[in-house]
Amino acid sequence: MAPEHALLDLQPTPERIRADIVEGLSQVPKRLPSKYFYDAEGSRLFEQITRQPEYTLTRVELALLEAVLPDVAAAVGPGLRVVEYGSGSGRKTELLLAGLHDPVAYTPVEISRSALTASVERLQAQFPGIEMLPVLADFTGSIELPAPVRDVRDVLVFFPGSTLGNFTHAQSVELLQGMRALLGHDGRALLGFDLDKAPAKVEAAYNDAAGITAAFTLNLLTRLNREIGADFDPDGFAHRAVYARERMCIETSLVSRRVQTVHVAGHAFAFAEGEAMAVEISQKYTRDSVATLARQAGLCLDRWWTDPDEGFALGLLAPA
Ligand code: AVJ
Repeated sequence: MAPEHALLDLQPTPERIRADIVEGLSQVPKRLPSKYFYDAEGSRLFEQITRQPEYTLTRVELALLEAVLPDVAAAVGPGLRVVEYGSGSGRKTELLLAGLHDPVAYTPVEISRSALTASVERLQAQFPGIEMLPVLADFTGSIELPAPVRDVRDVLVFFPGSTLGNFTHAQSVELLQGMRALLGHDGRALLGFDLDKAPAKVEAAYNDAAGITAAFTLNLLTRLNREIGADFDPDGFAHRAVYARERMCIETSLVSRRVQTVHVAGHAFAFAEGEAMAVEISQKYTRDSVATLARQAGLCLDRWWTDPDEGFALGLLAPA
């Protein structure tokens, strides 16, 4: 990079995390926000998930992006500033920046410091002509974006990975409305959507045989113990992911293996044996469900591409 000072640090403080966790554990059923999965270890485990045979999502999306990039580049035009939400390792970004016509600036908004610094360093070396303006933040908050030096013709928001699926319907509409505000008249947003498919296939992706997804989910407890002084026993919980097909939603929980009490910030939370704590949802989509969601946020579905098996889609959204 990108010297450390070039990074806009809006990372959630331990106080913020503590308040979110206490709030979630006070609900019925108890819940923990999935955005806190992504500490350094969580980001590493997620990368490992993307290489599991059952988790085809990332590989299919990369191949699809590569195949349709000329179409995308033609549709969005030159001179863009690219804003990416939850950029992670930046492997998809690499393809995108290489395929667009003369992009001007790149702003990844990412909650994991390790993932952000590593990807920006690599991308800057690869694309010396593109101004890197990284923001270390939770992209669900309102973010003031740093201004590029060069003139920008328009904005392209890039939100791949079907990460929108980790949000409830109401949160998704809100997030898309925030995006809509960045787009102005003629901006575009390119989003990845994992599509509804046979339940056994969806469930396998979130219950890989090697147990990486379980380790990823349980790492949240270890992180909270370390960062906010909670006393979760990671061995006292089991990972469970079930596809609710009628809602087209993967629901992941940590299930208490026994009666136990967990302490966070002076609060005690009692768990029954078999009690499920909700930790993540992964919404799956159809073309129609995406079009409806877009409309609710003042956007329209301009273009839609899928892989040959129709397991994953890229959608280009435009202001309605
Ligand atoms: C962050 C949306 C790409 O929900 O599929 C993977 C996160 N969680 N396995 C997803 C995740 C468990 C993932 N995304």
